[in-house]
Amino acid sequence: MELPPHQIIISEEQIGKRIPQLAGEVEKELGDENPLVVVVLKGAFVFASDLVRNFEFPHQIDFIATSSYGDATSTSGVVKLLKDLDEPIKGRTILLVEDIVDTGLTLHYLQQLLQIRQPKKIEVMTFLSKMARREFHTPLKFVGFEIPDKFVVGYGLDYKEQYRGLPYVIAIEE
Ligand code: IMP
Repeated sequence: MELPPHQIIISEEQIGKRIPQLAGEVEKELGDENPLVVVVLKGAFVFASDLVRNFEFPHQIDFIATSSYGDATSTSGVVKLLKDLDEPIKGRTILLVEDIVDTGLTLHYLQQLLQIRQPKKIEVMTFLSKMARREFHTPLKFVGFEIPDKFVVGYGLDYKEQYRGLPYVIAIEE
């Protein structure tokens, strides 16, 4: 695949080392709670699939899809629910898995949406965090990598639906 001018932000090797560490952190915190892993589509699907293959404790998986960007590289300020969960979550421990938390708007929206269904608790895992742009401060329990304020793609993240399959994360010129 032809890539635009870019800079590697997180290598395949860094990701490979970090995932088992994150899985271990989740096991310590939630390993006895049979968590429901809620994967936020589409961006978190690559991360989540590597993550759960390192889980050595009982868990289930469900998917939810939102959109806020359309084709742009910054949030439109409005979050749309594109696909809801398949199962009820009342009384369940939820591990919400995001690709990236930028302004925090998407996560804030999802937290509110899921909280009214009365889960036991919701803990958030995000592969990437861009702290510099945060407006909504939902607590993040597990963070893969803090990154600078750059538009990044790869490892599930896209620009106009491209580059999701890259096994590493790059910053591209907007
Ligand atoms: P937030 O609502 O501003 O936190 O943005 C969250 C969503 O925007 C993420 O789930 C991504 O889908 C998308 N997003 C934010 N930053 C980036 C980026 O650098 N590259 C690709 N997608 C991004």
